[in-house]
Amino acid sequence: MNIRLLDFDVKEDERGSLIALEGTKEIPFEIRRIYYIFGASDQVRRGDHAHKELQQILIALAGSCTVSVTDGCTKEEIPLPSRTQGLFIGRMVWRELHDFSPDCVLLVLASDYYNKNDYISSYEDFLKMVEKRGDHHQQTCCDPNGSDR
Ligand code: TYD
Repeated sequence: MNIRLLDFDVKEDERGSLIALEGTKEIPFEIRRIYYIFGASDQVRRGDHAHKELQQILIALAGSCTVSVTDGCTKEEIPLPSRTQGLFIGRMVWRELHDFSPDCVLLVLASDYYNKNDYISSYEDFLKMVEKRGDHHQQTCCDPNGSDR
């Protein structure tokens, strides 16, 4: 799946800690947009979409949340408990964000400007696109239509 957890380098001294992230270096793309989510409760689910082209890094700057991801075949639940890690999510990955702690501030770094046309908001359409693109080989993947996400 087109995801990976990045461990950021923390510069620590007696004054506290600092993490520096630069586009195309620690962040594997040019950063065109940032946004952040806060004030979500543990009952809230956000996301529920995939992107055709957009790449993102999610960082829980404060508190924690969990990100469920699937490429239509494999599924993973990735807790984000630490501000020293970022979750890279590449193209064509369905994501759901949930289990926000009340103090969670989730920073998102994105590779492009906001573009509604880049969203795939129906899971059914997502599966159809995955199949059409032939992203998975039959030997290594279950039937995406048979999977419950
Ligand atoms: P939404 O896509 O529902 O957020 P999430 O995927 O985290 O659940 O976005 C909520 C609102 O914010 C919606 O009206 C679209 C708007 N929005 C922007 O204007 N710019 C952005 O960069 C993003 C991510 C959302």
